[in-house]
Amino acid sequence: MTAILEARGVERYLGPADNSTCILQGINLAVEPGQFLALTGASGSGKSTLLYLLGALDRPSAGELFVDGQATSALNDDQRAALRNRKLGFVFQFHFLLPEFSAEENVMIPLLQQNQLSEAKCRARAREVLDQLGLADKARRRPSQLSGGEQQRVSIARALSNRPEVVLADEPTGNLDSKNAENVFQIFQQLAAGGLTIVMVTHDVSLALRTARRVELKDGRVISDEVH
Ligand SMILES: Nc1ncnc2c1ncn2[C@@H]1O[C@H](COP(=O)(O)OP(=O)(O)OP(=O)(O)O)[C@@H](O)[C@H]1O
Ligand SMILES: [Mg+2]
Repeated sequence: MTAILEARGVERYLGPADNSTCILQGINLAVEPGQFLALTGASGSGKSTLLYLLGALDRPSAGELFVDGQATSALNDDQRAALRNRKLGFVFQFHFLLPEFSAEENVMIPLLQQNQLSEAKCRARAREVLDQLGLADKARRRPSQLSGGEQQRVSIARALSNRPEVVLADEPTGNLDSKNAENVFQIFQQLAAGGLTIVMVTHDVSLALRTARRVELKDGRVISDEVH
């Protein structure tokens, strides 16, 4: 089976050229379509750096990355943005919702910016994903009128709005209390059961143990890769 995301011999150095630090070393990782993978490791081990490379938000210092078989480091910024818009969705620890817009508008705006669908279609799609996440009755509220868990669900709706094949999430439960963290995790489980590929960075070992695959980083290297 072709991997939907793949890193081959990836290295990442950051900092000044004459004194750069090695952040990732010799990373080989193939994520199969439909897999729910948790990326774990101590703070500073390179999880976010690897997630951004897999999601074509960053370029490697060496090695190659693939999204659905397409090598991404050779693409220019516009081509990588187009690839992300077509195939990927992102969720972060902090939701980055625009405070002056409603939940519905927050989901619509990135769709409108892609210039593919009419405003009416973008709105309809936003309502559909908010409904899927149990937020149909809160679509008109602004982020400040929603709980932390609801805000994160809006950001998941935004990530799903372009019907991605993969969702990459960086500590999506990190800012939530345990009840809301469980709720958000269950949403990811349902999405995974529906066939979505998910790569989720988490500090929470108990959540990581409930995913199908757990990859642990230490000092920029993969030190374990377990499929349950
Ligand atoms: N621009 C930069 N220049 C130099 N070093 C950097 C830069 N950005 C990140 N780093 C370093 O790279 C290492 C990996 O960072 P990364 O953010 O990927 O870790 P992480 O595993 O996501 O950590 P956390 O769990 O705290 O989010 C860290 O040691 C960090 O200090
Ligand atoms: Mg991080």
